[in-house]
Amino acid sequence: MRVTRSALRSALLAGIALGLAAPALAKAPAQPWTNRALPPEARAAALVKAMTQDEKLQLVRTWFPPLATGKPGAPTDMIPSAGEMVGIPRLGIPTLRESDASLGVANQVEQRKGDTATALPASLATAATFDPEVAYEGGAMIGAEARAKRFNVLLAGGTNLTRDPWGGRDFEYLGEDPLLSGILVGAHIKGVESNHIVSTIKHYVLNAQETGRMVYDARIGQAALHESDLLAFEIGIEKGRPGSVMCSYNIINGDHGCENHETLTNVLRGDWGYKGFVMSDWGAVHSTEKAANAGLDQDSGAELDDGDWFREKLRAAVAKGTVPQARLDSMVTHILTGVIQSGLYDDPSPQTVQPIDTDAHALVAQKAAEEGIVLLRNAGGVLPLAATAKTIVIIGGHADVGVLSGGGSSQVRSTGGVPIEIPLKGGPAASFSRTTWHNSSPLKAVQALNPSATVTYVDGSDPAAAAAAAKSADIALIFATQWRTEAEDITTLALPDNQDALIEAVAAANPKTAVVLETGGPVLMPWLEKVPAVLAAWYPGQKGGEAIANILFGKVNPSGRLPITFPKAASQAPRPEPVGLDIIAKNDAASNAGSPGGAAQSFPVEYPEGADVGYRWYAKKGETPLFPFGYGLSYTRFAYANLKVTGGATLTVSFDVTNSGKTAGADVPQLYVTPPAGDAQARLAAFQRVTLRPGETRHVTLTAERRTLSTWNETARDWHLAGGRYAVAIGKHAGDATLKGEATLADAKFKP
Ligand code: BGC
Repeated sequence: MRVTRSALRSALLAGIALGLAAPALAKAPAQPWTNRALPPEARAAALVKAMTQDEKLQLVRTWFPPLATGKPGAPTDMIPSAGEMVGIPRLGIPTLRESDASLGVANQVEQRKGDTATALPASLATAATFDPEVAYEGGAMIGAEARAKRFNVLLAGGTNLTRDPWGGRDFEYLGEDPLLSGILVGAHIKGVESNHIVSTIKHYVLNAQETGRMVYDARIGQAALHESDLLAFEIGIEKGRPGSVMCSYNIINGDHGCENHETLTNVLRGDWGYKGFVMSDWGAVHSTEKAANAGLDQDSGAELDDGDWFREKLRAAVAKGTVPQARLDSMVTHILTGVIQSGLYDDPSPQTVQPIDTDAHALVAQKAAEEGIVLLRNAGGVLPLAATAKTIVIIGGHADVGVLSGGGSSQVRSTGGVPIEIPLKGGPAASFSRTTWHNSSPLKAVQALNPSATVTYVDGSDPAAAAAAAKSADIALIFATQWRTEAEDITTLALPDNQDALIEAVAAANPKTAVVLETGGPVLMPWLEKVPAVLAAWYPGQKGGEAIANILFGKVNPSGRLPITFPKAASQAPRPEPVGLDIIAKNDAASNAGSPGGAAQSFPVEYPEGADVGYRWYAKKGETPLFPFGYGLSYTRFAYANLKVTGGATLTVSFDVTNSGKTAGADVPQLYVTPPAGDAQARLAAFQRVTLRPGETRHVTLTAERRTLSTWNETARDWHLAGGRYAVAIGKHAGDATLKGEATLADAKFKP
């Protein structure tokens, strides 16, 4: 779409240059809100001045099409999707049409019959690329498709830190590190908004688990929160400038995410100076005064709430003065600021559905998958497989027809089709989630790369039969799956359905066995030592089959790095299982799904790891995980040398990275820094993805992100970088120090 629109613009400009149909000289803008020279917030404030009270109240809530259709006051032309805010044509304020869009334009349970979109791999795969460009391209692609489908607000930008390996939505987020998550989500949002539409960043904040997501109370100290989950949002907002922030379902230190004055007003507006709007998650609003005065600007999908809080009740509260008129005005100003800043106000989305370049977009999905697949094990260099095998057996995971996708609001009906779709039998996700596969057959892709080989499929339900088939084949490829969905955490990190036994049996029968994991996060691998090759392919998206085959057969050199720690056992993690399962089981399970009338009682979740999320928790506890954060192998080797460290006000390192092997490939050198405080753990302070030809050397310079070295002072509300000696490591993953150094940094205090 961007191409088409900019082509249009160039054509217009060319016409002007030739003196054809030249428009009259631009007049001074008639109204301040149309004056593009003014800052978005000033234009928004001018619009608010011109609005009636009814018009203001119209903008602070969105309709939820599945429940709103036919309701008095609801628009009659809603697109079946997540939500809609009715615009004000006389002021040029567009109708906001919202769609979920974490991994593509969502169409979860095919509420729009036949409407397909390009499906990216899981966000964890994007995170594993450590490549902001991949994140940007993914966002730009989704934004272009959304715009072409007439959506202009994307519920994207999921960046909750992975605190628990069993999180149902871990696949939708960008891993456990605030710097990596913040940089990548910022790039993704920028990509979305390059289409002149609004993106959210979500779910603000500490929506770390799905079990009891509407009711659990995340208890954490303010400093720890600023140094971890908030930092991911802070960096993401700085880099991506999203038009909107979506507040979360859960409670944070006693107040719900959408009624939390500390996070919504003190932090977001006060500390960070955010100017866009805060929209609620769907069904996350529980009050009028409390929510409005805490800092919520727009009630999303209001029909899902446990009351109609932001319409007549808000009007009455403003009349009474319990919500000041100035607060209602600021709510609307924030909404319009987001709409203007993203470019949507000046370049409204089309009124009719536009064509999409699906082939070009499929390549975006494939590139993300190829860069994000992580090679975890390659004993004896069994991979890449030579294209000389006569017989290849493919086992399990429905790899004859496709690749698995995650469930919930991020679910895309991909352009290639959905070969398998299994409705859920019950549980909190049943109404909006299905277990689906994208039509990207690993079997067909392997066959295409090995045209003269006989490639067969065995479904893997019978380990003995699979082992027999493997024994007589040159190569055995096992596809192991683990499904996750929004609204439910998984209750075991073990692969389900006897797949461990299947892998053991096949590996015992054929030494040339590779396991491809299609999972939404870490899994346990009791068979690891017995299997020579293992790939983490995540949910690899609609071109996943091709991407996996290209990696297995060496057409693409693997370069993904783990954005999360894989534990050896669940007991190594801060919480071995979801907190509150027992309480939720006793209550109305539907209350967990985002549906109204949530009845389950609240329960606390403590975070003993504080800011030491993920790899830092393991380091603190002296636990060696199965695979550390940042880890990933390649078909070539990379050597690091000549480290120079500079201290003072900032910490800068430079060093050489050499591809010392025989294959072109990409590496991700990582800068870990340990502050001087006795109990401080090493933190990722910078990273860079580098692509090198065999024998090539690149001089890399990295500057540490200061906030990753600092602590948050809640009283002064500023960062403190303690003066002193900092240990510096250039590593291939957390815990590695291939090059070591030290720097002395000057004491500094600075505002966010
Ligand atoms: C999810 C959000 C989503 C919204 C709208 C909620 O249940 O938590 O991520 O954007 O629904 O579909």
